[in-house]
Amino acid sequence: MFKTAIIPGSFDPITNGHLDIITRTAALFDKVYVAILENSAKKPLFSVTERIELIKRVTSDLTNIEVEGFSGLLVDYANRRSAKFIIKGLRAVSDFEYEFQMALTNKQLAAHIETFFITTSCQYSYLSSSIVKEVASLGGSLKDLVPDSIINDVAEKFKN
Ligand code: PNS
Repeated sequence: MFKTAIIPGSFDPITNGHLDIITRTAALFDKVYVAILENSAKKPLFSVTERIELIKRVTSDLTNIEVEGFSGLLVDYANRRSAKFIIKGLRAVSDFEYEFQMALTNKQLAAHIETFFITTSCQYSYLSSSIVKEVASLGGSLKDLVPDSIINDVAEKFKN
């Protein structure tokens, strides 16, 4: 059976931790949609169009990945893409409560869709887009935090 998965998130910007989860998911499923939430209440650093371009750039070696924005309910988007799997990365216990709540809500809304959690690789367990933005805003090195090919894009956002 052809298996399609969704990796949803804000990806503002994509980090090495996200890329690790995307790469490992791509090895497990036939098709993977990296889905960027378009109507987030947060004021993003990168537009959805920019985030799509950055993610496409760093996943260009993965042949079964599509990157796109979505709005509305995640389960509705998953149904439109005929995806029965939602993949979320878990870094620490602190992630769990919120992720568990979202997984159960999605299960309530669409019982045929499963949420799978993938534990982050140890070296990325501290990493988040917020941490990346904090380091970048203070002029710190982004080496090993985000893929090399997007370091300048992130740093540029904080230049006056
Ligand atoms: O990277 P993030 O910001 O933690 O991603 C959160 C995201 C996009 C996965 C979550 O906000 C989401 O799924 N939003 C879509 C709206 C939805 O379906 N809500 C009901 C389930 S909680």
